[in-house]
Amino acid sequence: MANPSAQLIARRTEFQAALHDWYRVHQRRLPWREAPSLYKTVVSEFMLQQTQVATVLPYFDRWLRELPDFAALAAAPEAKVLKLWEGLGYYSRARNLHKLAQAVAAMPAPPRTPAAWRELPGIGPYTSAAITSIAFGEPAACVDGNVVRILARLTGETKRFATGVDAAKHFTPLADALIAGATSRGDAAPTCDPGTHNQAMMELGATVCFRVKPLCLTCPVAGFCAARRAGNAESLPRFAPKQIEQKSVIRTFVLERGRLLLRRGSADAKRLAGVHELPEAHDLGVKPDASALLATKRRTITRFQITEQIFAVKPDAALRKRIAADGTLEWVARDDLDRVTLSGPHKRWIAELLR
Ligand code: ADE
Repeated sequence: MANPSAQLIARRTEFQAALHDWYRVHQRRLPWREAPSLYKTVVSEFMLQQTQVATVLPYFDRWLRELPDFAALAAAPEAKVLKLWEGLGYYSRARNLHKLAQAVAAMPAPPRTPAAWRELPGIGPYTSAAITSIAFGEPAACVDGNVVRILARLTGETKRFATGVDAAKHFTPLADALIAGATSRGDAAPTCDPGTHNQAMMELGATVCFRVKPLCLTCPVAGFCAARRAGNAESLPRFAPKQIEQKSVIRTFVLERGRLLLRRGSADAKRLAGVHELPEAHDLGVKPDASALLATKRRTITRFQITEQIFAVKPDAALRKRIAADGTLEWVARDDLDRVTLSGPHKRWIAELLR
């Protein structure tokens, strides 16, 4: 039996026991783990989709205070929902969570299976598995980048994956085999259910099996790890190099009589619906003067390296006409910027430029 996956599956019960015993002692105290509920699980999983735990914590607490349950979220205006999400990024998560709450609030009871959850907005394979395993004990394995990393190392998988999605598909059968039977260990230990198993895997990825410099010496499942034996943990998993694309964006800073011109992402915008940003030059039909450059900002979003230059622009008659005619352009008093939801980088840039 040379196949490392098969070997691992054969030792599944022992693997689960080592992992769960470690998790019981070493898990972080996180607010969605205290008095867990379906609502807390859903909100935390949406927030954690592309964002680290440390960033999520203050947002989660504020969200639960302002919108304590599905009914409160369902009834909230979208502007409030976006404002509570301000700075977390990927705003379609907030809009999907809002729609999901409205759908759930209209049902006699929330769905319980991964397949039924996947019918709801913003729910993919990972989130449906996380929610239903944690809230209902469904034996559905979560496979994200952390879990891929753990499984690639446990099995010593040296295959090169084109994308994270490909790698997740590759490891899903193994992840499902490892969660199977995670409902009892014979001693009725309370932390062996599928939700605990998934959270233990997440916790191992977040606190031990780091991408760089994994803590193999203290790893509870080092004895099951092919990469640990081969000494190549840090080089796994392997991915084809990302094709980085350069993009440049020309932004405008139009400040007049204490009011700043902003553009609100239109309702059908994929990324920034309802979120305000500094308008791009082409939104205003202007060609800024090179001498009016105020700042140059660089950031990376997924595979794009973006350079944004921000230019001061003085409105002329043509621009005023355009602003009046365009439903997405909006003057906001500089003292009233808190009224709107700004994307995280724009909030920082504007604060810097107004100083
Ligand atoms: N990442 C995604 N879901 C998580 C959870 N429930 N706990 C910790 N990290 C997570």
